[in-house]
Amino acid sequence: MSGILMRASNVTAVYAADTGQDVPAVDNVTLEVPEGQILGLAGESGCGKTTLGNALAMIANPPLYVIAGKMAIDDHEIDLSTLAAGADQAHRPYRGATVSLLPQGAMNAISPTLRIRDLVVDVMRAHDKQTTKEDALDRASDRLKMLEMPTRVLDQYAHQLSGGMKQRMVTVVSTLLNPALLIADEPTSALDVSSQKALIEMLLAMVERKIMRGVIFITHDLPVLSMVTDRLAIMYAGKIVEAGPTEELVNHARHPYTSALLSSVLDPTEETRTKHVLGIPGSPPNLGNPPTGCRFHPRCSFAMPECSLKEPQFLHERDHSVACWWANDHAFETVPTEVNQA
Ligand SMILES: Nc1ncnc2c1ncn2[C@@H]1O[C@H](COP(=O)(O)OP(=O)(O)OP(=O)(O)O)[C@@H](O)[C@H]1O
Ligand code: SF4
Ligand SMILES: [Mg+2]
Repeated sequence: MSGILMRASNVTAVYAADTGQDVPAVDNVTLEVPEGQILGLAGESGCGKTTLGNALAMIANPPLYVIAGKMAIDDHEIDLSTLAAGADQAHRPYRGATVSLLPQGAMNAISPTLRIRDLVVDVMRAHDKQTTKEDALDRASDRLKMLEMPTRVLDQYAHQLSGGMKQRMVTVVSTLLNPALLIADEPTSALDVSSQKALIEMLLAMVERKIMRGVIFITHDLPVLSMVTDRLAIMYAGKIVEAGPTEELVNHARHPYTSALLSSVLDPTEETRTKHVLGIPGSPPNLGNPPTGCRFHPRCSFAMPECSLKEPQFLHERDHSVACWWANDHAFETVPTEVNQA
């Protein structure tokens, strides 16, 4: 495996609730992004992907509080536990410049009264007040030319752009400060197939041209992730349960949740079209009161008595990691998918 660009350790983030019962939406997560790679972060809705993305991008506004965690990126060692109420100045130099977030739904959040050129200038000046308008627009024009996008979009308003073009534009804007790491949260979800393809090609080109040196691509769209990413991390109920090279996870899942998630994707090919795809029985737990032991145990076809008693620790096999008691007892074995399909 190549060098590590970013390593986040033991990140815990909670939503403070009026009831006094905090919701730990991200619980003791450790995650790595290798240099020059795209890491896919997948899991069912509500499992904590956006919350983790925000914590790593150092964006935490109440009621979200990051209460523990460190991030090593380049030569920086960043203490995420001091992130409080978005008011923490210590993280300001890194936000956007070292780690940039393309938020979920960003393309629909652009002000209708701003031309794209104003957005570009605002973003660059927010980081460095000395940046002139000309410098900001030169940077944006160069970037657009490099990505073979028309520079005329700078003079347009968001409502004048198609969904695909708007999303590509906000992606460019989120990388204007040349961040080491881009966290893209559901960047393709609202797009049609050809716009998805254009955005993916642009992201790949940006990594190839070293505009950024690593990407965390968040989505529950597994077919997209398996096409785009080098590695996958699978999240369930606030925890990473399995991580490894994409091809290996797709073909040799070691965690029953990963296997069930992959089995629940409809495959349109002729021979599998009639196969009954069950999805995952039940639904993810309430994170305010998660199941004991392995959080997946109420839904798992492989659950054993110890699964509800003890939380599985990570088992590392080459560069593939899995937290599961079944995997512990079956070294290097792939989860039998027929059980998921039963
Ligand atoms: N503002 C909030 N206050 C309280 N709880 C919240 C808040 N925002 C999110 N949560 C809870 O945190 C958990 C994780 O939410 P998050 O948005 O990170 O999930 P996600 O994996 O990104 O889901 P999706 O795939 O739907 O985008 C969910 O259980 C959600 O109910
Ligand atoms: S630890 Fe047990 S319940 Fe959890 S995924 Fe593994 S086998 Fe299933
Ligand atoms: Mg989300």
